[in-house]
Amino acid sequence: MNPTDFIISRKRKKYKFAMFAEAPNCFEVADLSQEQTQYARGKKISLEVGAGTAFFSVALAKKHTDTFYIAMDVKADRLQKGAYDALTQKVYNIIFVRSHINELKEVIEPTSLDNIWLTFSDPFPKKRHAKHRLTHPNFLHQYAAYLKQNGSLYVKTDAPNLFTWSLEQLVCNHWLINELSFDLHNSTLSDNYKIQTSYEQRFVAEGLPIMLVHSIKP
Ligand SMILES: C[S@@+](CC[C@H](N)C(=O)[O-])C[C@H]1O[C@@H](n2cnc3c(N)ncnc32)[C@H](O)[C@@H]1O
Repeated sequence: MNPTDFIISRKRKKYKFAMFAEAPNCFEVADLSQEQTQYARGKKISLEVGAGTAFFSVALAKKHTDTFYIAMDVKADRLQKGAYDALTQKVYNIIFVRSHINELKEVIEPTSLDNIWLTFSDPFPKKRHAKHRLTHPNFLHQYAAYLKQNGSLYVKTDAPNLFTWSLEQLVCNHWLINELSFDLHNSTLSDNYKIQTSYEQRFVAEGLPIMLVHSIKP
C-alpha cells in the first residue's frame, strides 16, 4: 500500500491508513515482535491507552529519553499523526500500536510497565455501557497485572461523572490515590501532567476544568 496513491483521492481515511502502514514506528498488534520492543530494554515503559493522535506521549517521550513510550489506539488514522510528528522531531523512544485494549496481552509482558495513562477516555455515559469505560474494574485488574510493583495509573479527563465514577472504582479496588486535582491547569501538580492532548486543547480553550488522578497499583 503506497500513501501517495491516495493523495489526490477523496478517501482521506484510506490515505491515513496507508500512512500508518508505511511508518517505521507504527505497528499492528499482530506484527509487533520482540525485536521491535527491544528498544525498551533498560528503559522505563509507559503506555497510553486510547492515545488518539498521541501528541501527549510524543511530548513526554521527547522530554524523558530514559522512558520508552507505547501509544495505543484502535484508530490508525489518528495514531499516524503522532507517529509522523515523532519522526519529524527525531523522537525514537516511542512506538504507535493499533490495538484494542483487550489485545493488550499481545503487546505487554506482565509486571513490565512503570505507568499507564488513560487520557480523555470515552465516557460511555449510559449505565448499560459502563463495562466499556476504561476505568471499569475489569480493566483496572488488567492494568494492575501489567504494572510493576508501585506502578502508576494516571487518569486525565474533562468528564466529571466519569471522573468521580473512576475514583470510586479505584478506591473500591484498593488503588492508592497519590495525587488528585479537579482543576489540573490551576494546580501545583507536575508540568508533565499539564502537557495537553489533542482533545484537551479543545476543552481548555472552552474553559472546562481538567481532572487528574494519579493512583498506585494495589
Ligand atoms: C475521546 S478520544 C481521546 C484521544 C486522546 N487521548 C486525546 O485526549 O486527544 C478516545 C480515544 O480512545 C480510543 N479508544 C476507545 N476505546 C478504546 C479501546 N477499547 N482500546 C483502545 N483505544 C480505544 C478511541 O479510538 C479514541 O481515539
